Amino acid sequence: MVEGPCRLQGAVQISGAKNSALKLMVAALLGQGTFSLENVPRITDVQTMAEVLESLGAGVVFQDHRMEIRVGALHGRTPEHLVRSMRASVQVMGPLLARLGWVEVALPGGCAIGSRPLDIHLAGLRQMGASITLNGSRLVAEAPRGLRGADITLRYPSVGATENIMMAATLAKGETVIRNAAQEPEITDVQAFLQAMGAQVEGAGTPVIKVKGVGELGCAQAAVMPDRIEAGTYLLGFLVTGGEGIVSKARPEHFAPLLNVMRAMGATVDVDGDQVYVAAPRRLRSFGLVTKPYPGFPTDLQPQMVAAATQAHGASELKETVFDQRFGYLTELKKLGAVVRQKGQKVTVHGPVRLKGAELKAGDLRAGAALVLAALAAQGTSVIRGAQHIDRGYEAMESKLSAVGACIRRVEEMGGSTCSMN
Ligand code: UD1
Repeated sequence: MVEGPCRLQGAVQISGAKNSALKLMVAALLGQGTFSLENVPRITDVQTMAEVLESLGAGVVFQDHRMEIRVGALHGRTPEHLVRSMRASVQVMGPLLARLGWVEVALPGGCAIGSRPLDIHLAGLRQMGASITLNGSRLVAEAPRGLRGADITLRYPSVGATENIMMAATLAKGETVIRNAAQEPEITDVQAFLQAMGAQVEGAGTPVIKVKGVGELGCAQAAVMPDRIEAGTYLLGFLVTGGEGIVSKARPEHFAPLLNVMRAMGATVDVDGDQVYVAAPRRLRSFGLVTKPYPGFPTDLQPQMVAAATQAHGASELKETVFDQRFGYLTELKKLGAVVRQKGQKVTVHGPVRLKGAELKAGDLRAGAALVLAALAAQGTSVIRGAQHIDRGYEAMESKLSAVGACIRRVEEMGGSTCSMN
């Protein structure tokens, strides 16, 4: 529940990256021993992944922001309800196939933002010698004589497929080359972790990744990199509310495209080490952007940018090229008074408009974040249902926002009425 409008001011400390933490946890399945991860975000997707690891035979202890994962003997059948609730669980496929010679996973779920097929993952694993069949709603992958290295060109630089194939290749026989690989910084984080486990892998962060398979992998320690999407969300929070503030413990070089757009909007942006200061101008300017794989503008900040565009002078144009159905939240944004026109994968936002509080529903993680930002700028009370989507990827969003001046609280609904959780 958000009371607006408010002007955010202050500092927000950024948590560890969801999209790195989940993959580091999965990478541990390739090794043996006790792994230790620091700076792990306290979000529900991490809890779900911990349950996935436990269901496969690993031991997980998660305290504060430190996680210990004990890996010994494993088996390869993932529980359907966990995979369905989180698409990232499909990442266990490559590591388990490489390690055990077989794996069975349900077809995954996750945010409802498009078709999100698995063909690129499966084509790569098949090229490495896996036979993959669909048994009802479960994928069964087998490589009884082990995976072998291959020269694989991805038809699209899928983040998940790059990571799945890269992890599988660490225990395959011979060399694997992944071409047209995704270059997201989270993949570089996974590579460093695999190297610390003893894997021979290089090239993450470039379009060509090379992996030489080894016989076995040990254990490792790592600190999860800062979450660039969380950092971007709070920077846009300062901007959309006409405020100013700092995000700290961030890696600004990971979100340069966002900083460029914010500057083009007229914001003051200063980078100092792991901190970014942003101040909204008196008059926000409209902008244009196209989402692309890294190092392009991230699709995971597209909904938050549309929220910001409602307060910019003129017509902003955004084109989504990564996911085919990532504008479902526009209906909700319009309830606040946003003037938005969608044509296929393009959206035009006319601003600035005086948003007015409304009852809204978050349909997915980043849409939920965008609705919160817009509600902070809106006059009056907004209720955002579906906050569990936000909890999947944002640690303590309401506390972080309250600390910089937002009037936001979590309420539990009981039989139609709301009850405060404060
Ligand atoms: C990851 C991120 C997600 C981010 C996305 C794109 C995690 C847990 N999630 O998701 O937050 O939005 O990268 O930066 O890291 N595709 C196919 N076939 C495939 C695989 C993907 O067609 O086999 C398509 C998808 O439908 C989508 C596009 O490729 O349209 C990008 O998907 P991908 O890069 O794989 O995203 P994820 O790894 O699922």
